[in-house]
Amino acid sequence: MAKTIYILNGPNLNLLGQREPDIYGSLSLADIERDCRELAEEFDLSLEFHQSNHEGQLVDWIQQAGNNSSGIILNAGAYTHTSVALHDAIRAGSSPVIELHLSNIHAREEFRHKSYVSPVATGVIYGFGGDGYLLAIRAMSKLLDTKS
Ligand code: DQA
Repeated sequence: MAKTIYILNGPNLNLLGQREPDIYGSLSLADIERDCRELAEEFDLSLEFHQSNHEGQLVDWIQQAGNNSSGIILNAGAYTHTSVALHDAIRAGSSPVIELHLSNIHAREEFRHKSYVSPVATGVIYGFGGDGYLLAIRAMSKLLDTKS
């Protein structure tokens, strides 16, 4: 049976393409989802791709992924820097998590340098724009293979 990856996107990522394109690039989230689906198919992975502006919804999806032993690629947006709830949800499950950011958060404002996700993530990818999602799928595909 195909393994599943959840790609979860947090607040304001629905605005990709229009939002600060000098920082986040010109691809929309729909463009990124299309590219992810193409690559996931190559790797025979099934894909749950979601975005929400609401912290609790992200917690629900993380729990759901945990129940299905799926991998999680998480761009938590600004909740990365604030959310103990997301940190706890990841800790509570056994899914491998790749933290992802389009921008290089360490080259930006100091408040973006702190991540509540990093200490509970298997790995972190940032600074590669939309390509980061594809890098994360490749990395997750390896993680899931070695887990089984
Ligand atoms: C982001 C970086 C966060 O600091 C920011 O709040 C975002 C997007 C990124 O993908 O670069 O919303 O996660």
